[in-house]
Amino acid sequence: MTPVTRTGDIRIESFLSDTDERSLANDVLDGLTRPFKEIPPKHFYDARGSELFERICELPEYYPTRAERAILLARADSIVRRTGAGELVELGSGSAEKARILLGAMSRAGTLRRYVPLDVSESALEAAAQELVEEFDELEVHGVVGDFERHLGHVPAPDGVGRVDGVGGARIIALLGGTIGNFLPGTRRRLLREIGRLLGPRDRLLLGTDLVKNPAVIEAAYDDAEGVTAEFNRNVLHVINRELGADFSPEAFEHIAFFDRRHEWIEMRLRSQRPCTVLVGDLGLRVDFAAGEELRTEISAKFTRPRVEEDFHAAGLELDTWYTDPDELFALSLAARA
Ligand code: SAH
Ligand code: TRP
Repeated sequence: MTPVTRTGDIRIESFLSDTDERSLANDVLDGLTRPFKEIPPKHFYDARGSELFERICELPEYYPTRAERAILLARADSIVRRTGAGELVELGSGSAEKARILLGAMSRAGTLRRYVPLDVSESALEAAAQELVEEFDELEVHGVVGDFERHLGHVPAPDGVGRVDGVGGARIIALLGGTIGNFLPGTRRRLLREIGRLLGPRDRLLLGTDLVKNPAVIEAAYDDAEGVTAEFNRNVLHVINRELGADFSPEAFEHIAFFDRRHEWIEMRLRSQRPCTVLVGDLGLRVDFAAGEELRTEISAKFTRPRVEEDFHAAGLELDTWYTDPDELFALSLAARA
């Protein structure tokens, strides 16, 4: 049975639990036994990981959050007017800071009805839901604790569908923060296609993508002077230690971030500073790291408008409107089903 909690205007359903542990176990087993080791990024976000990510968003070097927020502040009213949306579905909602801007615009337009955040981080989702219902009287929150690679089928049907007046039916389905860039190109297109299947004729996808720019600017954003990003990166080892009974020494791994110019993505790795053997107790797995051996933990692809359009096309979507900030650091795309 799906655990459901309900208080006032908040309903939260969770689809994680033991399947989630299995997903970490599978990913660690697959990822650490490859010739080139890697771990998928969603495992960064336990409660501590979500907090560290919030701190990353405030760093002077981490421009994407500020740039995307600036676009939303300038354009939220016109996005809402253009779509007529009264419902926001947000995949990877985190602290929902950006959702607040869109919900505010819906409230001003008089269409606001419901917010559907979906995130693997239950702690972040609950806190965001609580703050938002306090801020917007008319708002209902239907949160989904889940993995957007596996649980899109649990996004509730659009609110207001079946009403004679059809009011409030249109939705914005948002994937912000450049999260789409954290997937390799093939997976990225598959995920866009799956998200596209949720879109009705009046619904729109709102996609945030970081743009190609001077590599030094990008590298600084993923390797800040204070070392918050390094801590965030190493947090995945703490998660594996705790959840799977492993014995990584996170301090023995150095944070690496470099811009891969051929693929136009930034890559994050953890480099073992000395030879070591790690035991992953729950999997009965022994993994050797050579001195200097690297574990890939994240890619964050940077986009151009043609690349976004190609990805949409391959995923059965089509660009409707392209918005950027004045410095063209970041872009928001509104897209429809082709
Ligand atoms: N949208 C916010 C947060 C971006 S960080 C912003 O723009 O600032 C990425 C968020 O996506 C985190 O909250 C993380 O918990 C969530 N996330 C990452 N992978 C996920 C997955 N596979 N399924 C659901 N949520 C995921
Ligand atoms: N989606 C964010 C991005 O690509 C996630 C992120 C920011 C991140 N900084 C990070 C992931 C550092 C891993 C390590 O910008």
